[in-house]
Amino acid sequence: MVVRSIKDGISWVGAIDWDLRLFDSLIPTPKGTSYNSYLVKGSEKTVLLDAVGEEMEMELVTNLMTAQADEVDYIVVHHAEQDHTGCLPLLLELYPSALVLTSPKAKELLIEFFGIEEERIRVVEDRETVDLGGKTMQFFHAPWVHWPDTMFTYIPEDRIIFTCDFLGSHLAASDLYINDPERLYESAKRYYAEIMMPFAGSIPAYLDTIESLDVEIIAPSHGPLYNNPDLILGYYREWATADPKNTAVIAYVSMHGSTKKMVDILGNALIGEGVDVERFNLAESDIGLLAMSLVEAKTVIVATPTVLFGAHPLAIYAAYLAAAIKPKAKYATVIGSFGWGGKAVKQIADIIAPLKCEVIEPVYIKGHPTEKDITAIKELAKTIAAKHAE
Ligand code: FEO
Repeated sequence: MVVRSIKDGISWVGAIDWDLRLFDSLIPTPKGTSYNSYLVKGSEKTVLLDAVGEEMEMELVTNLMTAQADEVDYIVVHHAEQDHTGCLPLLLELYPSALVLTSPKAKELLIEFFGIEEERIRVVEDRETVDLGGKTMQFFHAPWVHWPDTMFTYIPEDRIIFTCDFLGSHLAASDLYINDPERLYESAKRYYAEIMMPFAGSIPAYLDTIESLDVEIIAPSHGPLYNNPDLILGYYREWATADPKNTAVIAYVSMHGSTKKMVDILGNALIGEGVDVERFNLAESDIGLLAMSLVEAKTVIVATPTVLFGAHPLAIYAAYLAAAIKPKAKYATVIGSFGWGGKAVKQIADIIAPLKCEVIEPVYIKGHPTEKDITAIKELAKTIAAKHAE
């Protein structure tokens, strides 16, 4: 538990979870995460921006006591997801005169999630300002990064913008700011891939909004802050808008070696054709690394053996994840092997259909690859390389 000063009258009062290894029981977080909460004291009003989940609420409350937040006039909820709002019922008890300021959609969700009384919530309009005395909060509605309820808060006097999940990272760190590009890159990209990539289409406009403001500090709700905003804004611009690279990602699982043999042949043939290859053995891979590789891949390949009549469950999981996070890949295909039941390829192809990629003719073989199968796999590599070259 620690309070960290950001600017005169602005402090970080959140919680760091150093041990978390799976966020939402889904997303690997090898470096933990933080739940950032900010206390802003104007000469007239005190406000808390973002809160923490129920399990971290005592950390936040202790920090608020340390920061001498005897009164809180407003609690700004940028986004209703429970990792930032789980402690809201407690906060509203501790500060009985505090008013929640939030977007229309978040108001609806807060009432549904926590039964918060409507009169404790005030909806703020896009671009509305609230004076704190010497500091002004300006709200920017920002739906779909990553929920429909999201908004940002900008304080022009301090040149700081609070962006909630947007531009965040899952990184537990003692540093208030992150200035090391290498250290930032992996945590922020992992976070982008898993949480923001499905909303890549919404992102450029929000980057434009932030760049149109005079911003010295970006303060997200997860991970360290940025006092060099261009770094993270540049990464997001590239991840969201740049054309995919000449890379094929192969997510595979093999039971008796046939599918792995196919992957070996295809991977080597692709390299021989000048295509960069990233391989993930799903039996032991960090699914977050797979998600990161999908940010820039041009082709997604799922390789699966057959379990009973269908695909291996790990391949189904990877295909489902790939379809859900919506990478900008242009091509997809499936390869695999079967013994006596042959529906795995169709099953995977159906799962990845939402990717809206061009599906290149799969290669599905019986048992171990024969010479004829090897020729077909090499032809597939040629086809992929030719598509990448278009
Ligand atoms: Fe960190 Fe969408 O909540």
